[in-house]
Amino acid sequence: MARTIKIFDTTLRDGEQAPGFSMNLAEKVEMAKQLERLGVDVIEAGFAAASPGDFAAVQAVAKNINQSTVACLSRLLKKDIDIAAEALALAKKPRIHLFIATSDLHLEYKLKMSREQILAAVGEMVAYAKTKVEDIQFCAEDASRSNREFLYQVYAKAIEAGATVINITDTVGYSAPEEFARLVCDVRENVPNIKAVDISVHCHNDLGMAVANSLAAVQAGASQVDCTVNGIGERAGNASLEEFVMNLSVRKDVYHACCQVDTREIYKTSALLSSITGIKVQPNKAVVGANAFAHEAGIHQHGIMANRKTYEVITPESIGLPVNKIVLGKHSGKHALNQRLLEMGYALTAVELDQAFEKFKALADRKKEVSDRELEVMVIQRAIQIPQTYQLANYSVSMGNSISSTAWVQLVHKSGQVREAAVASHEGPITAAFQAISQIVRVDFQLVDFVINAVTPGTDAQGEVYAKIRCGGRIYTGSSVGMDTVEASICAYIDAVNTMLWAMGRQ
Ligand code: KIV
Ligand code: ZN
Repeated sequence: MARTIKIFDTTLRDGEQAPGFSMNLAEKVEMAKQLERLGVDVIEAGFAAASPGDFAAVQAVAKNINQSTVACLSRLLKKDIDIAAEALALAKKPRIHLFIATSDLHLEYKLKMSREQILAAVGEMVAYAKTKVEDIQFCAEDASRSNREFLYQVYAKAIEAGATVINITDTVGYSAPEEFARLVCDVRENVPNIKAVDISVHCHNDLGMAVANSLAAVQAGASQVDCTVNGIGERAGNASLEEFVMNLSVRKDVYHACCQVDTREIYKTSALLSSITGIKVQPNKAVVGANAFAHEAGIHQHGIMANRKTYEVITPESIGLPVNKIVLGKHSGKHALNQRLLEMGYALTAVELDQAFEKFKALADRKKEVSDRELEVMVIQRAIQIPQTYQLANYSVSMGNSISSTAWVQLVHKSGQVREAAVASHEGPITAAFQAISQIVRVDFQLVDFVINAVTPGTDAQGEVYAKIRCGGRIYTGSSVGMDTVEASICAYIDAVNTMLWAMGRQ
């Protein structure tokens, strides 16, 4: 009989806190809704006490999610717990995720607390959190490097005080699978009241073992796994949700366990995260990498044509990867577009379909065929609506190998006012255009990352552009897509500026 493992997704907390992966409130809500469609049991929405922005994000996710439990991270501090409870007030199923480190290394150098002090804090703060929210997950940070006897006492104390889930962590990704499985067994055997609660595991990927350790933990009796989409997270990341889930699904014979995730939503969830953050997964990434279903070698292609099972253990359909059946082009109508989008899992409202059809027609006029990937980029971009403080009206650039590049950019402010600037730069026309926009906007910010990817192979590919800017210690991501990469770059930069102004309340 297969056990059901709960999936605790921490993309919006552990994932989002990694450099380059920050998301704004609208993006977090969009991502949370997709995680709910994916079917995760718990969405960790953030660490509300960390900043007003985090608080607002947890609150917004709590309000918008109906099925999944919404969790908020909290230190063992009354003020953190109060803030977490307030942020979760509108959640249908709220959970506070309390954590404190338990290894001697952390106690001595980070917390400067004795074991007795930790134990007292665990008892007191779990009990306090329990007065606010029924569902309490208690996490011992750096559990895998903690003294075993002390760890048992800490978990026993947390359960006694009302914890419903205990979290066993491999915070620094140091464990080997057998070792981590032993730790889970030891906790099960030595913590007296353990049967009353779920055992979660939280593995990092510093040595590339996060998924292997999570699977070993399931075999040892863990009933919940913390993971993130595309494996994002602190340093080398967390256990990758898609890899963990597909292991359960494909190797039922080994793990005898299943979960509630609808695997057909995996590809879409991964693509949405890449689109929001501007960070693509490596091409050879298991399950969701661009090459995960590509067969280059002749002998492999021959095998695949005869029977896909020769070289594929997962089908593209099982993760919802679009497999093109009909080709859309400039003669295709709105109905065909809608049909194709539905097959790809995107149900658009009538207004959204009209907007998508307009973009589709513009693209189909310039290209013979429009691929599924291009359709996907088109509809994912529609999802996040940031107020358009500035819009591009006109631009022109000049460049050459022996002259400075120049750019003239004209923007329309939402008040209707037209503003323009012209700049010359030795660093090329895109830099010149960006500097012209910065002059118009007059806020002190810096460009920190700029990426152009081809949406499809071929010389007629559209460019998918991401621009990241930093202002006041925060990163804002803008994106755009188009056949003209200079224009798409300018639009991505304007999008980043609009996101920044919106977050600063200055739109
Ligand atoms: O890695 C870790 O130990 C954590 C906990 C705070 C859950 O992220
Ligand atoms: Zn972590």
